Amino acid sequence: MTVAELDVVTGAFSYTGRHIAEALLEQGRRVRTLTRQSPDPAHPLADRVQVSPFAFDRSLDESLRGADTLYNTFWVRFERGSTTFGRAVENTRALFDAAKRAGVRRVVHVSVANPDAASPFPYFRGKAQTEEALRASGMSHAIVRPTLVYGARDILVNNIAWGLRHVPVFLVAGDGRYEVQPVSVEDTARICVDAGSRGDDVTLDAAGPDRWTYEEFVRLIARAVRARTWIVRSPTSVALSAARVAGMLLRDVVVTRDELLALEAGLLVSHEPPLGTERFETWLANTPGTLGRRYTSELARNFRG
Ligand SMILES: NC(=O)c1ccc[n+]([C@@H]2O[C@H](COP(=O)([O-])OP(=O)(O)OC[C@H]3O[C@@H](n4cnc5c(N)ncnc54)[C@H](OP(=O)(O)O)[C@@H]3O)[C@@H](O)[C@H]2O)c1
Repeated sequence: MTVAELDVVTGAFSYTGRHIAEALLEQGRRVRTLTRQSPDPAHPLADRVQVSPFAFDRSLDESLRGADTLYNTFWVRFERGSTTFGRAVENTRALFDAAKRAGVRRVVHVSVANPDAASPFPYFRGKAQTEEALRASGMSHAIVRPTLVYGARDILVNNIAWGLRHVPVFLVAGDGRYEVQPVSVEDTARICVDAGSRGDDVTLDAAGPDRWTYEEFVRLIARAVRARTWIVRSPTSVALSAARVAGMLLRDVVVTRDELLALEAGLLVSHEPPLGTERFETWLANTPGTLGRRYTSELARNFRG
C-alpha cells in the first residue's frame, strides 16, 4: 500500500488555510498544520489533520520533515504590541529556511495582490520582502496573490454586513469609486492547490471574475442583508475616526488607516485575467441570513495571548 503524500498547511483551523487543507484532503493527501491554536474537538478538521505548534525556531525543521509541499498563509493583518510586519517577515523567512533544511519539495506562499517593496504600506512592503526571500531561497515555489478573500467565516465582508445591519449611517471613505475584485476562499484554495501540483516557479493573482467600485460593493452587501442603513460618502479622516470609535465600543480594530488608504489606492484588484470563477453576487444570494448577524473580532481571533 502506498502512503499518501504529506503537505504542511499553516493555519488549518483558521480561514484560508482551512480551505487549502480541505482541498488537499479531498485529493487524498495527508495534511499537517502549523498553528498556535489547540484544536477544538468540534472543528471538522480536528481529527483529520496532524497538528504541530507554530514556533519560529528549530522545531520547525521537525514539523516540516517529510512534507512534499508547504502552503504558507501566515501573516498578520496589522501591527500591535510585539506583533510587527518586520517580525512577520522574519518569521516567514525562518519558515522558508526550515522548509529548505527539511527537504520540502515546493512552497506555495500566499501573498497579496500588488505587493511592492517601495509601497508606503508596510503590509504590502512586507509581502514583497517575503516573496523576494522565497525567490532567493532557490526552492521550487508558487506565489499566490489574493485580492480580497470572501467566504464563510471571513472577517471583512461579514463585518461590513454587520455594520450595515447595525448602524444608521454607513460611511464610505473618500469618493467610493476605487475598485475591489473579491475572490472566494474556495477559489483561492483551489488556485493554491493547483499551484502546488505544478513544477515551475510561478506568481499568480487570485482574483474573482467581477470588479465593483467600493461603494457598489457595499450597496450589494446592503441589498443582500436587506439593510436600511443610509450609505454616505465621507472624507477618509471622518470614516477613520468613526471606525476608531466603533473599534473602542467593539474592543477591536475595525479597520486601520493603512487598510483604508490601500483600499482607496485600488490595491485590492488584479491586473491579470481572473483565475477565480465564483461570483460574489451568487455567494451573497446564497448566504443564509447569517451574514453580518454577529461581529467577528480580529483581535479576539488573531491577537489572543
Ligand atoms: N483575507 C483576505 O482578504 C486576504 C486578502 C489578501 C491576502 N491575504 C493573505 O492570505 C493569507 C491568509 O489570510 P487569512 O485572512 O486567511 O488569515 P488567517 O487565517 O486569519 O491567518 C493566517 C495565518 O496567520 C496566522 N496569524 C494570523 N494573525 C496572526 C497574528 N496576529 N499573530 C500570529 N499569527 C497570526 C494564523 O495563525 P493560527 O492558525 O495560529 O491562528 C494563520 O496560520 C495571509 O497571508 C494574508 O496576507 C488575505
